[in-house]
Amino acid sequence: MVIVQMANERHVQGIVDVCTRAYRITSQDFLTKEYIDRRCEEFFNEKRVHKEVTEHSPYWGGYFVALEGACVIGTGGGGMTGQETGELFVLYIEPDRRNEGIGSKILQAITEQQKGLGAKEQWVSVQKDNALGIPFYEARGFIFQKETQSYESNLEDNAISLRYKREI
Ligand SMILES: CC(C)(COP(=O)(O)OP(=O)(O)OC[C@H]1O[C@@H](n2cnc3c(N)ncnc32)[C@H](O)[C@@H]1OP(=O)(O)O)[C@@H](O)C(=O)NCCC(=O)NCCS
Repeated sequence: MVIVQMANERHVQGIVDVCTRAYRITSQDFLTKEYIDRRCEEFFNEKRVHKEVTEHSPYWGGYFVALEGACVIGTGGGGMTGQETGELFVLYIEPDRRNEGIGSKILQAITEQQKGLGAKEQWVSVQKDNALGIPFYEARGFIFQKETQSYESNLEDNAISLRYKREI
């Protein structure tokens, strides 16, 4: 049975592992190895994730985890970016556990949290050409808004983000 709950310190290593594996596999076809390495190092390290599971605010609501027993098989988190605006910052499922409804469950938990803080709309950035992420967000009602250059990318990285939004 898969349950979704707020992450705690016991889940730090599982979050690092799932995010690193899922991000690398998902991005290898459309981002440079240098960009992927930089992002993994910056975001998916134990020190940073430990801080992110222990320190929450309206701007970062903490990681949610999908657990099977003690094992982390998916994770995600978001925060408020405006009075009535939430953002999904991260969502990754163990690659061989996709399409079982786990991502939707985590997204629902994050959405409930943001609605509780007053969110009426929710945004997400997804890499252009991410053939796994885009159909998922569209299936969950997100609508494409605009294209931007990805976070701290340079032109050689070829990293373009698509901004999506839905009403919640
Ligand atoms: C995107 C991701 C988080 C989704 O999680 P998941 O557990 O696989 O998703 P779910 O099983 O809850 O839902 C999948 C939905 O997407 C839809 N979907 C998936 N692939 C699709 C495709 N190629 N075409 C149309 N719809 C598709 C499914 O139909 C399903 O919708 P439904 O429930 O209405 O039928 C997960 O696949 C993942 O980790 N991908 C790699 C990392 C990533 O891209 N993360 C997002 C970065 S911003």
